Amino acid sequence: MKKHNQQEIDRRRTFGIISHPDAGKTTLTEKLLLFGGAIQMAGAVKARKASRHATSDWMTMERERGISVTSSVMKFNYRDYEVNLLDTPGHQDFSEDTYRVLTAVDSALMVIDSGKGVETQTEKLMEVCRMRNTPIMTFINKLDREGLDPLDLLSNIEETLQIECAPLSWPIGMGKCFRGTYNLYRKQLHLFVPGQETRFSDGIVIEDLADPRLDELLGSQAAELRNDIELLEGAASPFDPAEYLKGNQTPVFFGSAVNNFGVQELLDAFVEQAPGPGPRATATRMVSPYEEEFSGFVFKIQANMDPAHRDRIAFLRICSGKFRRGMKVRHHRIGKDVQIANATIFMAQDRTNIEEAWPGDIIGIHNHGTIKIGDTFSDKEPLKFTGIPSFAPEHFRRVRLKNPMKTKQLDKGLLQLAEEGAVQLFRPLMSSDYILGAVGVLQFDVIVARLKDEYGVDALYEGIEFATARWVSCADQKKFNEFEKKNQGNLALDAEGNLAFLAPSEWRLGYVIEQWPDIVFHKTKEHS
Ligand code: G4P
Repeated sequence: MKKHNQQEIDRRRTFGIISHPDAGKTTLTEKLLLFGGAIQMAGAVKARKASRHATSDWMTMERERGISVTSSVMKFNYRDYEVNLLDTPGHQDFSEDTYRVLTAVDSALMVIDSGKGVETQTEKLMEVCRMRNTPIMTFINKLDREGLDPLDLLSNIEETLQIECAPLSWPIGMGKCFRGTYNLYRKQLHLFVPGQETRFSDGIVIEDLADPRLDELLGSQAAELRNDIELLEGAASPFDPAEYLKGNQTPVFFGSAVNNFGVQELLDAFVEQAPGPGPRATATRMVSPYEEEFSGFVFKIQANMDPAHRDRIAFLRICSGKFRRGMKVRHHRIGKDVQIANATIFMAQDRTNIEEAWPGDIIGIHNHGTIKIGDTFSDKEPLKFTGIPSFAPEHFRRVRLKNPMKTKQLDKGLLQLAEEGAVQLFRPLMSSDYILGAVGVLQFDVIVARLKDEYGVDALYEGIEFATARWVSCADQKKFNEFEKKNQGNLALDAEGNLAFLAPSEWRLGYVIEQWPDIVFHKTKEHS
């Protein structure tokens, strides 16, 4: 590959932020975009934040998304780097979407509230990162408030998330006594001025902590800092870039997102240390980003980004080669060549058509109902990127139509929404019911609202006796047929035609698993 192309690829940073709601993800996103010049004013991202409490607000926000607010992918430049920040839904009911977004990143930023330490949602998202050994950088937020002791926070992360911490900055006091941070990576002191939202600030270089300037600047807290650093040298691991890249160690920064404090330090270390686009697994081989041939996969489909056009955008992560506007690519699942006449990139509040894009970039392509999550597009070679999962649903509803004449629209609507990954659709072998499965219950409300809005279908839900599901497979066809025959009442096909076992309880599932040792029960499913 030509030198120029390699440089284009190597300067890309594609990442997502993982955190528990309220830790400060939205605030941090906003500050990062400010540094990148992608937004001019604080408040722009905040305005789009979906309410975590009311679905109706969530829907309104989604609808408004296209006109006034930012999109799911935010691209910005910082220094010589092209950064793609992928947004992840904050509400845990939409965590399946988050999991899939995480398959398209090269690294992640983890935000932790210093008052709370590691919380449940972060733990779950971390598990997903671990599946792919995604490198993670950590930002401990809200140091302007009283929180847990910094050393305790590090132990908390190490113990709960089983990842080694390497602090790259260290806080000086907290809450009312928060004076700033000492950057161990740059050997610079950053003094905290509350409420100051300066975009760029240089630290004061203090190479040696014995420097008397430290006492002048920090008073009695200088001794505290010296003590802490001494303690740290014995207790914490030094930063090891190789261990970070393997996902074994997380560099840690402290700061206050709302005060824009510590954010620039974080961003500087992030662009320097975080990995650029790496090789990606397909069903047949690893694909290097430096290969000439274009390839990419769809990890998200978003409807109604622009309500005026009722469009559906498929987000494609480029994995290799260069994208050129108007290029013909093969859509492998349907076996057709398609021309991508218009591809969009998203710059916080704007979207623009692009002429070219590189591995690591996310492009939005118009979806007229033919693209599904997990689809691969490439030049010629029939590749299929792997690792884009569906998770076994934990909530179920039976859908009923208010007007039985609308069956066709319901069919179409549910199928499309399932392809988008908004919900999972099951058709029982023994009935003509529509059964929806979701990882979070709010998904159901969204589906009913969207069926009405987009397909003109009035639907309602009935509770159903199922509590859990597993996709099933078996190497021995005879045994599989026997299993199918004996369990017809609990079997259903999903939207892709895969057989799933729906169980009324975990206990019942466990029992059936024991009874049928040759059948494999899968908790996750790859998109086919
Ligand atoms: P999220 O996206 O992770 O859910 O969190 P978000 O950024 O919305 O932040 C959650 C709350 O924490 C917000 O307060 C936000 O202002 C506050 N916050 C974020 N960073 C800091 C920080 O560094 N220090 C302090 N003290 N607070 C911080 P809110 O009351 O929910 O919203 P708002 O009305 O203040 O915007």
